[in-house]
Amino acid sequence: MNEQLVSEDTIMQDAIRYVKEAGTLIMNHMRMPLQIQEKKNGSDLVTEVDVQSEQFLRERIALHYPHHWILSEETDGGREDSHQALQQPPAGYGWIIDPIDGTINFIHNIAHFAISVGIVKDGVPICGVVYNPVTDELYSARKQGGAFLNGSPIHVGREQEICQALLATGFQAFDWKPNSVVVEQIGRMTGKVRSVRIMGAASLDLCLVASGRLTGFWHDGLYPWDVAAGLVILQEAGGTITNRAGRPFELCDNTLVSSNLFIHNELLSLLEGELLQA
Ligand code: IPD
Ligand code: CA
Ligand code: CA
Repeated sequence: MNEQLVSEDTIMQDAIRYVKEAGTLIMNHMRMPLQIQEKKNGSDLVTEVDVQSEQFLRERIALHYPHHWILSEETDGGREDSHQALQQPPAGYGWIIDPIDGTINFIHNIAHFAISVGIVKDGVPICGVVYNPVTDELYSARKQGGAFLNGSPIHVGREQEICQALLATGFQAFDWKPNSVVVEQIGRMTGKVRSVRIMGAASLDLCLVASGRLTGFWHDGLYPWDVAAGLVILQEAGGTITNRAGRPFELCDNTLVSSNLFIHNELLSLLEGELLQA
């Protein structure tokens, strides 16, 4: 097959196939004893299943798309510059992979984790696939092609007021401490929004906003592999995603704020600590 002639739709269908196969691999290890290793601390974990899922995906992509570049958590995450890896993205097509997003949930048998694969072209995210193998929910989107959950179109929620908003956020492993920024932010939300959840898988959390289950999601310090796929899915579902300064989110940004658009400015203001009218 001439790689140059393959359409983006074919690339997307292949991504869906690889991600589903990785899901089967992961499910074969559910409820089995796991080899759990600490990366930077006891909240930053990796199992042999994360590594196997990643190797499987890398092999598949390298076989069928040898000229595409790959950025993946367990291979590239140790690099000092991995957070900034996409400040000057390589040209051409690239695959950005989180082989298990939500590893702590996976280890604890909580059915909220996913395989996340985003595809970029010349640095621009163009496709996203996020698959939860336990619930068999597959979110997918192609730029200007709409967003889907198991093939059915999805759209962000209609909540117009911040008091109707169900939000989610998450902890960075190194910021898991009493005076962390996010703990203070959650405190500021109390009484102003419907509630705040900490679900533990950023890629899926973005998809929950895309499908209208959550109204918004914010998180500091995420990596490109947490966000590349969910970003396309959220935007194609009519949502918005910025950094905390309100500028369009870029994969190397250190802050992320996403929502159904209606509540976005109020959410940004709350996160900045500005008092809202009661
Ligand atoms: C984690 C999840 C979690 C987020 C953490 C991430 P991992 O990814 O996305 O929701 O709060 O900051 O590190 O380590 O399970 O792939
Ligand atoms: Ca992750
Ligand atoms: Ca991961």
